[in-house]
Amino acid sequence: MKKDSQSLWTAVDRYFGELFAPHDAKLDAAVKANRAARLPAIDVSPLQGKFLHVLAQMTQAKRVLEIGLLGGYSTIWMARALPRGGRIVSLEFEPRHAEIARANLRRAGLLRRVEIRVGPALQSLPQLKAEGAGPFDLIFIDADKENNPQYLDWALKLSRRGTVIVVDNVARHGTVVDAKSTAGDIRGTRRCLKAMAAHPRLSAVALQTVGLKGLDGFAMAVVVR
Ligand code: SAH
Ligand code: DHB
Ligand code: MG
Repeated sequence: MKKDSQSLWTAVDRYFGELFAPHDAKLDAAVKANRAARLPAIDVSPLQGKFLHVLAQMTQAKRVLEIGLLGGYSTIWMARALPRGGRIVSLEFEPRHAEIARANLRRAGLLRRVEIRVGPALQSLPQLKAEGAGPFDLIFIDADKENNPQYLDWALKLSRRGTVIVVDNVARHGTVVDAKSTAGDIRGTRRCLKAMAAHPRLSAVALQTVGLKGLDGFAMAVVVR
């Protein structure tokens, strides 16, 4: 059996997905609503959603911060991992995305666990800090990639020792290796990765992933001091 790599990755992702991340009616409904609203299909894949879910359980997260809500697909996976009383704050620039996510979360019975803040994350983050929010147990950074270095700084300000920080889309079909790229997303991601690797408060790693969504990756760190 000779297949091109993408169809091979897709076949394996399907197989793992059916085992570990099967969709129920609520996840299906969210995907359907996002498609009907023509949201960009840039949510995490089912297995990546399950990965965030298991990570939330591994860290026994009660307070989660998400930067980049879109239709709330990743939010559903994480919210489902929270114990009673657990909460997610999710930041979203586009009011329309927030409305669609709210409907998806309501339908999934999770709206009470999620606080949505509409606006540019670089305004919401200082507001959260000023309100005394946090420290968060798990922080998922998945918004505009050019601001990833600043999001990392704010994540650290909203962290304690043991907080886990995950950054999505750090491989971007491999384009991240272009050190000379002038693209804002690549530059932002590369600066963020460099800061994570060198930061005295972080123990960090990055992993590339292949699957339904092609080649991409996560960077992950734990706050060690
Ligand atoms: N986490 C989601 C996908 C998020 S896509 C999931 O996996 O299901 C990225 C989202 O970040 C988009 O909805 C986009 O509108 C939002 N975004 C982009 N720039 C932003 C900013 N400056 N502040 C807050 N949100 C932003
Ligand atoms: C893009 C953003 C994402 O968060 C993602 O998971 C995939 C793609 C994008 O902006 O293209
Ligand atoms: Mg993403």
